[in-house]
Amino acid sequence: MRVLMMLILTALLASCEQGADSPRGFSLPAGDVAKGEEVFLTYQCLACHSLKGFEEQELELDIAKRVRLGGDVTRIKTYAELVTAVINPSHKIATSLPAEQLTDSSGQSLMRNYNEVMTVAELTDLVAFLQPQYQLKPFNRTNYPTYFP
Ligand code: HEC
Repeated sequence: MRVLMMLILTALLASCEQGADSPRGFSLPAGDVAKGEEVFLTYQCLACHSLKGFEEQELELDIAKRVRLGGDVTRIKTYAELVTAVINPSHKIATSLPAEQLTDSSGQSLMRNYNEVMTVAELTDLVAFLQPQYQLKPFNRTNYPTYFP
């Protein structure tokens, strides 16, 4: 019974992936990391964010608390997630701080919108720069003792 449920769930999840809105087939050209760093600084991401190694470039804070980018994560941030975080920030709100500190009263992200000003080349470079800033941290499993009857 449990196996059957699993199969049905897997099928359901798989079918979601196939819809017209699915990220399947999403791919952008490779970006340039050094140029991405320039984009990161030019667009003043450090007015709201912190990033290891960029403490000195931090700008005057634009929101209540800095949102950390990069660092240890238990699940890798995919390319698609990072692109989405920049061009459609309200799609999924960061979880590093309580949501009230990251959104306005209507639940929209407080992140600045760059869609009218950032070129696609800038976006791909930016993401190429951001992605390696995230380090996958092994998930610490709870080791339950094994009992032998
Ligand atoms: C005015 C403030 C502001 C500016 C400027 C800003 N952001 Fe954000 N950003 C936020 C807030 C608030 C969040 C958390 C809410 C959300 O997930 O959208 C966020 C979230 C993110 C996330 C997702 C973080 C996570 O842990 O899921 C990424 C990636 C990101 N920003 C990148 C950038 C980049 C790159 C720039 C510069 C091009 C930038 N931001 C500029 C406010 C800002």
